[in-house]
Amino acid sequence: MRTHDLAVVGGDGIGPDVTAEALRSVHAAAGHFGFRVTTTAYDLGAERWLRDGVALDETSTEKLRGHDAILLGAVGDPRVPPGVLERGLVVALRVALRHAVNVRPVRLYPGVESPVRGLSPERCDLVIIRENTEGLYAGGGSTVHQGTDHATAVQNSINTVAATRACVGYAFRLARARRRRLTLCHKTNILVEAGKLWTGVVEEIGNDFPDVAHDYVHADAMCQHLPLTPERFDVVVTDNLFGDIISDLGATIQGGLGLAASGNIDPTGANPGMFEPVHGSAPDIAGSGRANPAAAVLSAALCLAHLGEHAAALALEAAAASVLGELRDRPDSTTGIGTRIAERVREVDLTALGDPAASLMTAMSARSGIRE
Ligand code: IPM
Ligand code: MG
Repeated sequence: MRTHDLAVVGGDGIGPDVTAEALRSVHAAAGHFGFRVTTTAYDLGAERWLRDGVALDETSTEKLRGHDAILLGAVGDPRVPPGVLERGLVVALRVALRHAVNVRPVRLYPGVESPVRGLSPERCDLVIIRENTEGLYAGGGSTVHQGTDHATAVQNSINTVAATRACVGYAFRLARARRRRLTLCHKTNILVEAGKLWTGVVEEIGNDFPDVAHDYVHADAMCQHLPLTPERFDVVVTDNLFGDIISDLGATIQGGLGLAASGNIDPTGANPGMFEPVHGSAPDIAGSGRANPAAAVLSAALCLAHLGEHAAALALEAAAASVLGELRDRPDSTTGIGTRIAERVREVDLTALGDPAASLMTAMSARSGIRE
């Protein structure tokens, strides 16, 4: 029987709560679709850091590298200074595992209310592909004359052709598997050096994809187009910080951060992907049953898709979408929602889902990241 060996980092706050529901749904999907999932829990996050000052140790990184995929809950805790876990654990893992791609779907599911007036599900189904290891996240920097009126902070942005190619290549392959449209989102009129590099890579790789139309939108203009005309986008490729920002906007449009999934992917397939909800650890509601586990479940669906379990991934997404569509009339607790999704996954009629070929879940695959 096919077996997938998952590492589980529940993390902090609501992280363990929502991850438990993601696992419940993955096991339900595995039982129904005939594969096996094994899990190993990792003690990483605030408690570990508070106990022995370690955000991420070499041994854990190497062990994580040996799994087929990683499910991450959320990190962040008021007892830990900001940045320690975000940079020291999440970003460190993205870099160590060469996750040049962060896949962030923006999809409005039927029955879910968008704050954008009149937005319908048919108009909102796009994927943000965010470069995930570089830009302002990786540039380092320095401060001189600290504590004086002449204090000067320098924050560098790193943009390599190698990582940009890896990211843009994945985005083009994904666009080819979907609706064949790719948009580069940047700020080339101001960030001219990085902008030239990104534009050059898109032109270069675009030559190999004559069947995929590509265009360009400035990051600030994107903040207007994304809520007003999301239907004009299929795959949006962008750098690390712009991707961080516009994906929160995307999450808002699709109904909130509680619904936004993501996958950190090494497009070469050499390292395991890491799948995490976009939301934070919300320590104030940890353990209260108020967190919506849908983003974690949908991230687990991306994980299954990436591992090649396309039918299970489609079913899990459909099950989560159908429960989400009912929540307005039938609200539920974290466990309640998770249990409903896990039950529903066995009932999904895959033939009724429309054209699966265009689905992100069908398009993703383990080796190249994308099915050719
Ligand atoms: C995200 C988060 C992270 C980021 C943090 C937790 C490091 O905001 O995944 O979008 O800035 O990338
Ligand atoms: Mg973010």
